[in-house]
Order: sequence, then C-alpha cells, then structure tokens
Amino acid sequence: MKAWPNNPFLQGYYEPLTAECTAPDLIIEGDMPRDLNGTFYRNGPNAQFPPENEYHFFTGDGMIHAFKFDNGKVSHLNRWAKTARFKIEKELGGSFFSGMNPLETDPKLLDFVFSDKEGVANTSVIYHGGRLLLLEEGHLPFEMDPETLESHGAWNYYGKLNTVMTAHPKVDPVTGELIAFCYMASGPFSDDMGYYKIDKDGFLTEYHTFKVPYSSMVHDFVVTENYVVFPVLPIAGSLDRAMVGGPPFAWEPEKGAYLGVMPRNGTPGDIQWIEMDPCFVFHFANGFEKEGKIFIDACQFKSPPLFPMADGKPTPANIHPRMNRWEITMEGDKPVSIATHYTIDKSVSSEFPVIDPRYAMREYSHTWFTSTDRTLPAKIPDSDYVYNRLVHFNVQTQEVDSYAFLDGYVSEPMFVAKEGGAEGEGYLISCVYNEGTNTSDLCVFNALNIEVGPLAKAKVSHRVPVCFHGTWRPAATYQPAGL
Ligand SMILES: [Fe+2]
Repeated sequence: MKAWPNNPFLQGYYEPLTAECTAPDLIIEGDMPRDLNGTFYRNGPNAQFPPENEYHFFTGDGMIHAFKFDNGKVSHLNRWAKTARFKIEKELGGSFFSGMNPLETDPKLLDFVFSDKEGVANTSVIYHGGRLLLLEEGHLPFEMDPETLESHGAWNYYGKLNTVMTAHPKVDPVTGELIAFCYMASGPFSDDMGYYKIDKDGFLTEYHTFKVPYSSMVHDFVVTENYVVFPVLPIAGSLDRAMVGGPPFAWEPEKGAYLGVMPRNGTPGDIQWIEMDPCFVFHFANGFEKEGKIFIDACQFKSPPLFPMADGKPTPANIHPRMNRWEITMEGDKPVSIATHYTIDKSVSSEFPVIDPRYAMREYSHTWFTSTDRTLPAKIPDSDYVYNRLVHFNVQTQEVDSYAFLDGYVSEPMFVAKEGGAEGEGYLISCVYNEGTNTSDLCVFNALNIEVGPLAKAKVSHRVPVCFHGTWRPAATYQPAGL
C-alpha cells in the first residue's frame, strides 16, 4: 500500500489504522468502576486506502471501536464497516471514490455512487430496536452485529425507509421512540427534508417529506416533548455549482437562517418557519419547553469550519463554536420571535455536547462537551481541529468544571448514569489520544467532578484515530447466548 498523502487529516491522530484488532483484556490504571457495565461504541472515518483525489475526512470509510466494560475489565474490538463501497475498493485494491464531490468519482463507478445505499457509514452509531446501526446522514443506516461487529449491510426498516437517516436521531427517554429526519430527501441537492418516527421496537411508523427554504446541509435537529425544530442554516448545496467544478456545499449567509417548528403530533403541513441571524450549528445539546417558550442549547459557529465560501475561498477564520441558548417565543404553535445569548465564557469553546439521556427533550441542568484550550501546547497538524479539554457545564447555574490533558486530545464524551441516580450522577467516558506514545486511553471520570481527573484508564496499545460520535449500550440489553 502507498504511504498516506501529506494531508493533515491523514497524519498523526488522524492517521487511519490499517488493522482490525481484538484485545480481550486492556491494562487498567486506577480503579475501574465495577458498576459500569455495557459497551461503548465509537465511529469515525478510517480510510481503507490512501485517497487518489482531494481527501475530506467526512468521507473516510467508517470504523467502529467497541469497548466492553465488564465488572472492572475492559475489552476492545475495532472493525471496518464493510460497505458496498469498501468491498469495491478492496476488490480493486485502491481508492476509486472521490471526497465530497461525487462528480469527481471514476466515471465507471458513477452509476454505483448514485444508487449506493450504504455510503461510508462513518459518522455515528446507535443501538435501537435491538440493532446496532451506523449512521452517516447521506445513506441508509448500516447494521453491524453488536457483539462481533460483523457487517450486515444497509437497514431500511423492512422496506419502509426509502431515503436516508441523519446521524443525530433523537430517542425519547419516556417512550423509547426514535425521531429522525433526512435532508435532500428526494436526491442530491434537493430542497426538501424527510421526517419520520421509529417505535421502541424498531418499526417505522410515520414518514413525511416537506419543502425547505433552500437546499442545505442539516447535521442535527432538536426535539422537545411537544415540538420538532428543523434548522436550515446556510451551508448551502448546489448541483449547478458542483457541475462547473465549484464546491458542492458552501457557506452562503446571504441565503438566511431559518428554523421550522412543528408540533410533534402534527405533520409537515403544520411547520411554521422563523428567521434568525445567519450562523451554523453542527450539534445541539438539548431542547425543551417552558412557560410558552422553546429553549435550545446550541454549539454555535459564527461561520462554519471545513466548508468554503461559494467561490471556493475559505470562510473567515472562526472555527470554534460556543454554547449559545436560543429562546423561541411561541403563540400557540406559532414561533413569533427568537432571542439568542451565549451562556458560557467566550474562552470556552464548546463542541460535541452530550447530556444525561434521561433528560433529553426536557428541562435539564448538565451537559458535557469537548473544548480547545489554545493556551495549552498542541503539536499535531491542524491542532485547531482537536480538543484538549473536557468541560462539564451546568446550564442552570453556568458553573464550569473541566479537565485538560497536557499531552492528550479528548474526543466526544459519553455520559452513563448510575442506576437510580439523580441527573448527572454517573460516569463520563472519553477516548483520549496520547501524542507522546501514539496510543489511546479510555478515561473514566466521575461525571459531576471531572476536574480531579480520571478515576481509571483502560489503556489501548495503539492509536484510536479521531472518531466523531458514539453510543452506550447497557449490559442489560445484551441478548442471552444462543438467541
Ligand atoms: Fe455530528
């Protein structure tokens, strides 16, 4: 195999693993809690072959890392998602697909690209309805065996899902229902979205499509007890621009920013749009209703990283998002005004937020996220895109509790509740890359007191490259052997 090209997203922390590993019993430092039992899955881009075209790390082949916690022991398993695209490249022995622009793909494979249902399955992972599903927002969910990580292929809910699924569907902790959406529902660059529900047992029960103000990339959305909020923010998609060699997605603030507010028991005909100042959000922490308002906590960029202006030039250097609260005033089901204000000190960047999932869609106090502390040393390429501090933020009191790694880079944390505990009582887990040793540790913190540092570390003897998102599957959901 050729060497990885000189691209910062293929070097160091980002450099793909070239092996699938099985490590049954990781070395533990500290006291690993014995009441932390379940599997922590992480998903991220891990290119199988060095790319021939310009590489965008959103397009690397998905690889799942599964860390199983069992009474103080931790095992590790990593496997590629063996998608159709992965298998074609394996057969051909190299990289044949493009980065973000499908029109740059080898012409012989264009028909495949436009009919492919599996994509790269590299963004997120959920365990719902008894299935482990890798999500990538441009294609269907991709199913893997939750124990062995054997690839099963695209999952379309018994033929009922004919479009794609966001990487950020929401689970209602009371009903177990999964609420999801997709953008560009009728094909690449279309100005429509899909909205659907999957019940707790994994059956798709509702599917609708609707028009949006313009074609844009919508990575996340918001669900509260009674409303769904669809953001249309100006990373706009254009087939015409892509056809003449321009960026398929570009920052176009002049198109405006809109939120579509829909009652959860309604249909898209009930959506009411409200305009707000242009901004971009990859991830929302949570949303809830109180006293005639919808409150949304967003990790907000003034302008987005990783996507250019329409003319191909970079966006203004402003790549760190910050926790911002949006307050939408409602008159009945109609949003009539929106106010926004930052809730955290401007020195604390805020990205990849998680919450206590029992408080999703409801008024809550605690969120945890990654942050880039630029006062600490960072030696790896493109260090603006790495995080060296974990932050615990109380959205009610604005108190901040944090922990920084001086020679390590943190990834999106995961909160695991203690059984019967109050909101926030439990553990925070984050996979931390150690630059000095080129290895990774799975660090476990007391979630309400992270500043004292990890309670325990499970040590991986190699690098776990940058991942985007993960999920926690409690041991209580394991299937008895033989079923
Ligand atoms: Fe995401």
